[in-house]
Amino acid sequence: MALNSLPDISTLPLLANVLHCSIDQLMGYAAEQKRITDYEERYKADGYYWGVQPSPMCYEIMKLCPPIKPLRLLDVACGEGKNAVFFARNGYSVTAFDAAHLGLDKAKRLAEKVQVDINFFRADLRDFRLDSHFDIVFCSGSLHYISQELRREILENYQAHTTDAGLHALNVFVRKPFLITESDQREGRYKWVSGELFTYYADWLIVHCEEKIFDCMSGGSPHRHCMDTLYAIKQTAVI
Ligand SMILES: C[S@@+](CC[C@H](N)C(=O)[O-])C[C@H]1O[C@@H](n2cnc3c(N)ncnc32)[C@H](O)[C@@H]1O
Repeated sequence: MALNSLPDISTLPLLANVLHCSIDQLMGYAAEQKRITDYEERYKADGYYWGVQPSPMCYEIMKLCPPIKPLRLLDVACGEGKNAVFFARNGYSVTAFDAAHLGLDKAKRLAEKVQVDINFFRADLRDFRLDSHFDIVFCSGSLHYISQELRREILENYQAHTTDAGLHALNVFVRKPFLITESDQREGRYKWVSGELFTYYADWLIVHCEEKIFDCMSGGSPHRHCMDTLYAIKQTAVI
């Protein structure tokens, strides 16, 4: 079939952004997909690596921003979707992304099983930037994939695309000299400095922040992590 017209080449970045794909993919060029995360391997197993029960943070979000009106929620690096699905079941309008194809496939299956609609897409959080607004931005267990020099830019982009009185609920693994784990040595993981996350929210109302050490069996061997957690609400500047 002959094509009568082709899109103006200058619209390609816009189209790729709207469709959440690369220009290569838009043009039908499927280069070998670069594996961004080693979770791709872990998500190959039949079961849900992270289980299907929502994180306790989800309940805190429901208390702080109950879905009594339509609320758009972004789940950054959603893994296999346990939290995204919980939010959708509870009436939030959910968008969620991750870098792992297999995690997203499982997340989609979980959403289908409980019959909720979620806008899932694949993206690398290091180069994905928001261009539309959300009422809630949630990210659990994934901000340590962002190296120090990208953190401000990424968080400022999320903040700029959060509605007034919107909520950020985030946690980060933090580095403690008395808690060095094997995973700290792995390429592409950058634990944050203790307290660093809170410093990006000086202009917001920090409704809760905490630091905790917890036991973890991820990867099969017992170890401990330290994690900082933040709930912050965007304030409108009053002059
Ligand atoms: C510890 S898991 C947390 C998953 C999910 N947030 C949860 O609480 O179950 C970290 C997730 O980050 C994802 N990830 C790692 N690097 C990423 C990147 N550069 N961009 C997007 N997602 C990434 C992994 O695929 C994995 O699903």
